[in-house]
Amino acid sequence: MRKPQLIRPLVRELHAYVPGEQPKIKGLIKLNTNENPYPPSPKVLAAVKAAVDGRLRLYPNPTAERLREKLAKLHDCQPENIIVGNGSDELLALATRTFVEPYPKGGVPRHPNWGLRKVRPPALVQYFTPSYSLYPVLADIHGAVKNALPLNPDFSLPSLRELKLGKAWDFRAALTFVTTPNAPSGRGYPPGELDELCRAHKGVVVLDEAYVDFAEENAMTLALKYPHALVARTFSKAYSLCFQRVGYFIGHPELIAALHKIRDSYNVNGLGQIAAEAALNDLPYYRANFKKIIATRGQLSRELTKLGFRVLPSQTNFILVQPPRFSAEAWLQKLRARKILVRWFPPPEVRNYLRITIGTAAEAEALVRAAKAVLD
Ligand SMILES: Cc1ncc(COP(=O)(O)O)c(C=O)c1O
Repeated sequence: MRKPQLIRPLVRELHAYVPGEQPKIKGLIKLNTNENPYPPSPKVLAAVKAAVDGRLRLYPNPTAERLREKLAKLHDCQPENIIVGNGSDELLALATRTFVEPYPKGGVPRHPNWGLRKVRPPALVQYFTPSYSLYPVLADIHGAVKNALPLNPDFSLPSLRELKLGKAWDFRAALTFVTTPNAPSGRGYPPGELDELCRAHKGVVVLDEAYVDFAEENAMTLALKYPHALVARTFSKAYSLCFQRVGYFIGHPELIAALHKIRDSYNVNGLGQIAAEAALNDLPYYRANFKKIIATRGQLSRELTKLGFRVLPSQTNFILVQPPRFSAEAWLQKLRARKILVRWFPPPEVRNYLRITIGTAAEAEALVRAAKAVLD
């Protein structure tokens, strides 16, 4: 007898997002998932510990009210401009569900560009490649159509003129994701360029600023300037809180209210809210960490360059490098054999590179020693 098919075809065929390895073996230097090498501020740890008592039986504040008030002060806007999520990943998924229609009749064109002209722009999720590899997965989960346009070979954004002339970019797309600074290249984008891009779009544009605290510039003003632009931020990277899962969007109250409508009632856990609030009470601690990470980024880039690596300039807490002598994939294994974990991505535009998270100065030195040993 044929087994009944319990799972939707879309889910059966889905290629799920693959997160970086969280190794079970101890003693590895973990430079593969862009976590912050420094612990959260002692004040954050104290606040979380103090909250671990009988109150855990209660539901947390459903809209992360106190945290939104603090964030509103920080970014000079209103709490109505802000939604907090279970990591910014949750908000990227919510944006897809809020702004994008699934492709009609339950079927998505098989080839990414097949029939794109016929696709109603409301069904379109658009992004540049390479960028955060979650975006296409979110589109697939939702049954939306994807439009991926390659960045320039140096990972800069194509100019507005090129985008308009090239015709492959659709300014009417329901949702456009821009990772800025870009991941995995680390390249920063000038706010002026992002402003032009937002202005030209008819649909929602999410500027994903997950790494912006390590950059010289940011585009937060655009979220408050345009009714269709959202800026995504996270406490994961700069604020050493990956474990707690807290991220937020800032944008026009109308977009924010729509996102609130479809989120889970208690989407941000209570300890996460407390940790994020405490982090905002100790910004000088974090700003000192950003400085250390940026200094290590410069030092590591110089050392690897001396060893023959091509290191791309970075505005993030990672660097993208083209290693010498062996393939990037071989380097991944060779470094792992020396207990150093970095990240390698198979797509053609990045397969010759390794992405290395900036750790402590001591971890950077260990990486340089391992690289020398591989080359010897
Ligand atoms: C570009 C980008 N956006 C968003 C995220 C998600 O961050 P969060 O931990 O807030 O879900 C990541 C995480 O790696 C990322 O690289």
